[in-house]
Amino acid sequence: MAEILDGLKVSKEIKAEIKAEVEKILESKRRAPHLVAILVGNNGASKAYVNSKVKDCEEVGFQSSLIKFPSTVSEAELLEKIDELNKSKAVDGFIVQLPLPDQIDQEKIIKAIDPRKDVDGFHPENFGKMALEMDTFLPATPFGILTLLERYNIETKGKDCVIIGRSKIVGRPMSILMGRKDFPGNSTVTLTHSYTKDIEAYTKKADIVITALGDPHFLKGDMIKEGAVIVDVGITRVDDDSPKGYYLAGDVDFDSCAAKASWITPVPGGVGPMTRAMLMKNTILAYKTSVY
Ligand code: GUN
Repeated sequence: MAEILDGLKVSKEIKAEIKAEVEKILESKRRAPHLVAILVGNNGASKAYVNSKVKDCEEVGFQSSLIKFPSTVSEAELLEKIDELNKSKAVDGFIVQLPLPDQIDQEKIIKAIDPRKDVDGFHPENFGKMALEMDTFLPATPFGILTLLERYNIETKGKDCVIIGRSKIVGRPMSILMGRKDFPGNSTVTLTHSYTKDIEAYTKKADIVITALGDPHFLKGDMIKEGAVIVDVGITRVDDDSPKGYYLAGDVDFDSCAAKASWITPVPGGVGPMTRAMLMKNTILAYKTSVY
């Protein structure tokens, strides 16, 4: 029976560490780190994510601001706001919650963010630095997974790591990070996706499987090796008869995989809270490295 990689517990530890740092900052009469979130439109999931980011800021003692635009906002208006935030000496980092409405070129928006304030780590300059093993902001979900593996002392060196899903914010950066020369890295990485002929052929041989595809219960126990480490990034709302009307499902079929794995992340309470904590980590890093 697998042991649990408890992302909720570790995320609380990380937030407590950040809070202690903020207290020291305030004692020395400096201002608190300040994160700004831009939210466009009315997407329910995006609203929930942004609200939880604001709540996390409160918890660790950061200043936070939420800037809302209607879904009809023009690209020019958004770029103007980004320019203002780039120049503001009172803002350490900011994020533009994705996805954006169709009239807005997402790539253009991400490229407009000053890389020094890009606490999501989505700017091409920061993505390039990540691949080149230079210091930078790592995207929050991969950063959270690495930190979780690190805190539980999970050996990654020389291991076969299979990642399912090649999204720009999770699977792709994860595949780069697991193969980097620093800890926790040095894995032999296979990045599988929708055109992979036989995913099971890969997962069955993997020492570490990281699923980020958004397909509830996709990974079954008979698709993994005895003793594998299983990391589940998926979190999909599935309607049910519970009082809430839904439950949150991971990509991993928990019971059958937990019976075989050595370590496994739960959903909820695994990768999700780690992602949130790492945005706070990137924000304090932006504060500490800021030129102001
Ligand atoms: N949409 C889904 N995840 C993220 C994230 O980590 N950052 C931003 N900006 N948008 C997202």
